[in-house]
Amino acid sequence: AETRVTIIPGDGIGPDIVDATVRVLDALDCGLAYDYAIAGQTALDKGLDLVPQETLDMIGKNPVALKGPITTPVGKGFRSVNVTLRKYFDLFANVRPALSIPGVRSRYDNVDILTVRENIEGIYSGEGQMVSEDGERAELRSVITRKESRRLIRFAYEAARRLGRKKVTVVHKANIMKSTSGLFLDVARSVAKEYDDIEHEEMIVDNCAMQLVMNPHRFDVIVTTNLFGDILSDLCAGLVGGLGLAPGANVGEDKGIFEAVHGSAPDIAGKGVANPTALMLGAAMMLDYLDLNSEAERLRNALRTVVGEGDKVTPDLGGRSSTTEFTDEVIRKLAQ
Ligand code: NAI
Ligand code: MG
Repeated sequence: AETRVTIIPGDGIGPDIVDATVRVLDALDCGLAYDYAIAGQTALDKGLDLVPQETLDMIGKNPVALKGPITTPVGKGFRSVNVTLRKYFDLFANVRPALSIPGVRSRYDNVDILTVRENIEGIYSGEGQMVSEDGERAELRSVITRKESRRLIRFAYEAARRLGRKKVTVVHKANIMKSTSGLFLDVARSVAKEYDDIEHEEMIVDNCAMQLVMNPHRFDVIVTTNLFGDILSDLCAGLVGGLGLAPGANVGEDKGIFEAVHGSAPDIAGKGVANPTALMLGAAMMLDYLDLNSEAERLRNALRTVVGEGDKVTPDLGGRSSTTEFTDEVIRKLAQ
């Protein structure tokens, strides 16, 4: 039977990299069918809500969605589309692998770090956002629960075990944020006891940022709260060649929304030069999620070959190819 994928083209470079990724998925010929839906600026421009109900219904119907980056309009009253989707569909874990590709110019070789970021709580959940009437005082609440922390940290340990990884580093700031980060750390300590085959490590977030830059090879799996995970996963992307190579998966109990870590890149939008690799790697994570593992592996291999060879890559990786030329080359590799 066909598997239906909800496709959200997104804003800025979104439509270009989403089209490119759909072309590559078609070339894999693995029985996917697509339902298109819109959100973000694209939806506002059509006079619809930032996240239209039809879009929510469509994502709700299908097991997976592939999402382009979405511009969150700056200003009052707009909650981030991503935060909305993650909460609405209870996509509690954000899985962000950073894996070196041989041949890519970057600070280090052989980096392989999996960040598991808490995706629906904490300072990003948007609880209690308020600015006083005179504009002089702003407020934002952070809520962390034992239940969510446990589910997320278990998810990270389960992933570590399934992937044969050796160590989970819990990143926190429990020394200062004693209540929220302290609770997260406390849960991590008790979950870690259930996994005595995996090394448990604790690290304060500022030290972690420094250690990642100085010695990334000491890391294996990182599990952390929402804001820290957002920042550290961009850092990890920077270690392996930039945001053009970093995919992310938002997963819950029975659904996944797959994307790139990066945003809509307004500075290069419309120029046809965006690197679609991050989203294509996100699509490979989606194929794995659908148990289409051999197709996922074929796609990753083709991407690693074309990106690693380096002569058909986009400008962010030092090349001169357009999004389309790069994609053509990936499809050629898939056909070989
Ligand atoms: P960004 O990730 O869009 O761009 C940061 C830098 O990386 C820019 O120089 C950009 O050109 C470059 N870059 C990003 N993706 C690239 C790609 N595929 N190929 C080549 N270069 C790439 O971050 P920024 O500028 O802070 O945010 C722009 C907008 O995106 C904002 O409205 C923000 O809210 C939104 N955003 C959306 C996300 C999502 O939908 N998942 C995630 C992050 C930001
Ligand atoms: Mg981010």
